Amino acid sequence: TDRYAVFGHPISHSKSPRIHGLFAEQTRQPIHYTAQDVTAEAFQAAADAFFANGGKGLNCTVPLKELAWQYAGRLSERARKSKAVNTLARQTDGGILGDNTDGIGLVNDLTLNHNITLPNSRILILGAGGATRGILGPLLEHRPACIAIANRTLDKAETIVAEFADPDLSCSDYAGLASRQFDLIINATSASLSGELPPLPGDLLAENGCCYDLAYGNRPTAFVQWGLARQARQSLDGLGMLVEQAAEAFALWRGIRPDTAPVIDLLNRERK
Ligand code: ATR
Repeated sequence: TDRYAVFGHPISHSKSPRIHGLFAEQTRQPIHYTAQDVTAEAFQAAADAFFANGGKGLNCTVPLKELAWQYAGRLSERARKSKAVNTLARQTDGGILGDNTDGIGLVNDLTLNHNITLPNSRILILGAGGATRGILGPLLEHRPACIAIANRTLDKAETIVAEFADPDLSCSDYAGLASRQFDLIINATSASLSGELPPLPGDLLAENGCCYDLAYGNRPTAFVQWGLARQARQSLDGLGMLVEQAAEAFALWRGIRPDTAPVIDLLNRERK
């Protein structure tokens, strides 16, 4: 049995062990996947110990994605660009590869599971932290009309725009969103975890537009509710993305891609 784990802090509510357990059952892969509470201070020693003891791969979540990016001895192209790593994989030569499957997980949930079209759409991302860095590259690849980033602290958004250097990418503070409209608004702030929302103009969502919160919970998040109140065509939380990013990690580790639909269905039914 090969060992895998998710590291993060806090970690007790993580659905990753459940998701990877379901994938393993479905694909008949002999893996054991656990959750471990690891703070930023403890990360390096915990990761060293995990791999030294034969561990095959790690997922890293809040607040460890930038540390995992530094830890990886080699990086996939998308991880290099995002400066954040959510998946570490031990290679046959003992080296540690870092990847970021968050962006492709989001794109797959939007396009394959929810039929949301990205080419030519006007996309707004709220927030300019690690979560935004992780999703930008894969979104840009789908040739949207534009991607705007809005953030409370403008210079963090400006740094990301300068790094990605794409003519379709721009940023502003929240006041700068006045009288603009978007077809897809993605909440990548950590605000909705505490039930808060950034200050958003009432007419921000275009007719037939969609909302997507990277966060998820048993109840609709504050941002999902914001979208529903504004007649969004779909207002979704990040449960589908969570399963899709896990499937990409599983495929990287095991060379076999699980079917995500039955796992998403099951987790949706288990919401209280
Ligand atoms: P993550 O890795 O999840 O992206 P992060 O790097 O700490 O976490 O980024 C959190 C993001 O949420 C930031 O863009 C932050 O805005 P600032 O850069 O201005 O701090 C945003 N955020 C958190 N709480 C917020 C709130 N109450 N209102 C608006 N934005 C908020």
